[in-house]
Amino acid sequence: MTPWTPADIPNLTGRTAIVTGANSGIGLPTARELARHGARVIVATRSADKGEAAVAEIRRAVPEADVAYGGLDLADQSSIRRFAATVDKVDLLVNNAGIGMIPRQVTKDGWEMQFGTNHLGHFALTGLLLPRLLAGPDARVVTVSSAAHSMGRLDLDDLGLERGYGRMSAYARSKLANLLFTLELQRRARTAGTALTSVATHPGATATSIFKVGPLQPLLGLFLQSAEAGATPSLYAATSPAITGGEFVGPRTKLLTPSETARSEEVARRLWEVSTELTGVRFEEIAYR
Ligand SMILES: NC(=O)c1ccc[n+]([C@@H]2O[C@H](COP(=O)([O-])OP(=O)(O)OC[C@H]3O[C@@H](n4cnc5c(N)ncnc54)[C@H](OP(=O)(O)O)[C@@H]3O)[C@@H](O)[C@H]2O)c1
Repeated sequence: MTPWTPADIPNLTGRTAIVTGANSGIGLPTARELARHGARVIVATRSADKGEAAVAEIRRAVPEADVAYGGLDLADQSSIRRFAATVDKVDLLVNNAGIGMIPRQVTKDGWEMQFGTNHLGHFALTGLLLPRLLAGPDARVVTVSSAAHSMGRLDLDDLGLERGYGRMSAYARSKLANLLFTLELQRRARTAGTALTSVATHPGATATSIFKVGPLQPLLGLFLQSAEAGATPSLYAATSPAITGGEFVGPRTKLLTPSETARSEEVARRLWEVSTELTGVRFEEIAYR
């Protein structure tokens, strides 16, 4: 069978997409290809300079693109609320932004940075946008996880990782949380009788700035796939009519099986409760009664 490529994206005219972290790496070609196929696209990221530069780059590649910058710092819950309040319409949310393998830091709200940004930031953003997502007939939420999720351990009694911080284990934990969130969102959306679909992706090892290897940075591209190839699972997950919700789309659009922990409904339910408690975002429209 011919492999799926972004040329297979259907006409997206009339749809509004938000792509977080679309100023670089995998997010930039994701936003660009959605715009190329007619979607109105918001490049949602924390730096206005980088965001506007990405908008200009997309317009150079796709002169007819309907694309704009939106200021969003996922490590700051007040910024997420400000951004969400500016959104009038959204059909497609791509939770792409991420940080990885950094020394211990905390978010503006005092949470461990990788969990706070990659998971809690996107949890809150999705919940705050939920009324606008559900206002459309077939909303979709794509959350970019990673194969690293399978190394993740989630101790809900030690979210600050006070018992030991590791750059990689903190990243793996945040990517496990992305998958648990994706699958729980799908279960809740379906149980509530909504048409929202929630799907996760693993881009494959991609040459982006998430890997910081110092002076060897320019050599990354020799060993890892391009950002375009890394964006393919996101674009397929975001636009393919074959997606029904709850899938985990990997490199070359292959469907993957999440780890046993990622598939645990009990762990997902507890993570959801803790995330609700921390962020105050309640997903009322799809809450279990
Ligand atoms: N590259 C890989 O091999 C790989 C593999 C598996 C999964 N992933 C996932 O793919 C996604 C995209 O990463 P990438 O590889 O494309 O890395 P990247 O080039 O570093 O892109 C990450 C993006 O996230 C943004 N971001 C970081 N913190 C943010 C915050 N607090 N608020 C808003 N935006 C923020 C960054 O903005 P700045 O430019 O301002 O930092 C950047 O635009 C991530 O979720 C990552 O975990 C990547």
